[in-house]
Amino acid sequence: MTGPSVKPAADPASGGAPAKLWAGRASGDINPALEAFNRSIGFDARLYEEDIRGSLVHAEMLGHCGIISGEDAAAICGGLRGIWGDMESGRLSADPAAEDIHTFIETELTRRIGEPGKRLHTGRSRNDQVAVDLRLYTRTALNGLRGQIEALLRILADRARRHKNTVLPGYTHLQRAQPVTLKVHLAAWGKMLRRDVSRIRNAVARMEECPLGAGALAGTTYPIDRDRTAGALGFRGPCENPLDAVSDRDFALETLSVLSVLMVHLSRMSEEIILWCSAEFGFARLPDAFTTGSSIMPQKKNPDLCELIRGKAGRVFGDLMGTLVMLKGLPLAYNKDMQEDKEALFDALDTVSACLAAFAPMMAAIEFNKERMRAAASEGFLNATDCADYLVGKGLPFREAYGIAGKLVAVCAKEKVTLETLPIERYKEFSPLFDDDVFLAVDLIECVRKRGLVK
Ligand code: ARG
Repeated sequence: MTGPSVKPAADPASGGAPAKLWAGRASGDINPALEAFNRSIGFDARLYEEDIRGSLVHAEMLGHCGIISGEDAAAICGGLRGIWGDMESGRLSADPAAEDIHTFIETELTRRIGEPGKRLHTGRSRNDQVAVDLRLYTRTALNGLRGQIEALLRILADRARRHKNTVLPGYTHLQRAQPVTLKVHLAAWGKMLRRDVSRIRNAVARMEECPLGAGALAGTTYPIDRDRTAGALGFRGPCENPLDAVSDRDFALETLSVLSVLMVHLSRMSEEIILWCSAEFGFARLPDAFTTGSSIMPQKKNPDLCELIRGKAGRVFGDLMGTLVMLKGLPLAYNKDMQEDKEALFDALDTVSACLAAFAPMMAAIEFNKERMRAAASEGFLNATDCADYLVGKGLPFREAYGIAGKLVAVCAKEKVTLETLPIERYKEFSPLFDDDVFLAVDLIECVRKRGLVK
């Protein structure tokens, strides 16, 4: 951050440490070890924008409903906008000694505008405040990720378009199975990602209820207007049940689940690229800009980017597991354990965004080796099923046709020829049903076309 830092508010009663919002009942100073341990400002400072947006609509509503005066509401909103601008420009940064971002902003507001700042928290608790902040943040972050996936989908579609006739082996058990085209293979990746986009949309749709007004857990006695705050923040409406509003972190779990599935997909694609770029496959090559070298082996070009994505998938699953376990034993409503939701959620959102940011340009730049793909497809007897199907077409039961095709494969393997190059006389030794048209039946691209996959 740049620019002069504005010194945040200090509480003279606690020897210069920032004021606690909850210094009501307790007497004496908090133990310094607990104070440091309790703090979340180190990771929740990134919620400042959402926190201020939530406070702005809350203050406006308090003024509108006559719970605080119009002048106080205006002073609060002016003060909050000033803090927002200063934080955005880097003139003000969150005080690392504050307890959390909610405390920091409220304290800073009161330091700036005095008395009216102390009225902001009327009819509100940090419990509904943090719940609304985190929902707003998650919603924005997920919409950003959706945009990144959609950009990747466009790249995949663009690459696929040119490979309608590029034949490569399709695999089961990582053994060559039946021929497919590169277009179909890349389109399969696209399908996986499209489901991720739809899962993100669904998750965001379930985040559309606003916790503001739930207070600490049981709502509030003030005549607040929850529809007004919910609407102003772009939610469908307020959460119905206040206990649920402050204790529900399903939206975090759902986000982490959706991101975990997305990482499974990115990791599987990465694994395929790693295989394809090996000398053993030779199906693809990454331009130098997307590989790294070895400090000892001068010939090496390593697909680190894909390996890292594969590795980072584990980290996102860990974020999900940690949050599931953190929540599973909590009684309603808020418990401090829940402060632990943020690092996992932020880590997963950041990790997925970084993976997509690296994967998309790599997919745009990767070079495919059509010849190697084709060669691998013709070496593997991928048309053996089609050879059997040919005989079925001539009236033979499939199980018998399967046996004959198997024998032909064994002969070809022994004589180092393919089903495309085996002379018709040899075919006829195994069944009189074979004729010249068998060569069309075992033609690789024809095999793919017959399955309706060349579009
Ligand atoms: N920093 C807290 C969190 O992230 C904010 C809510 C605190 N509420 C409370 N009652 N202590 O969860």
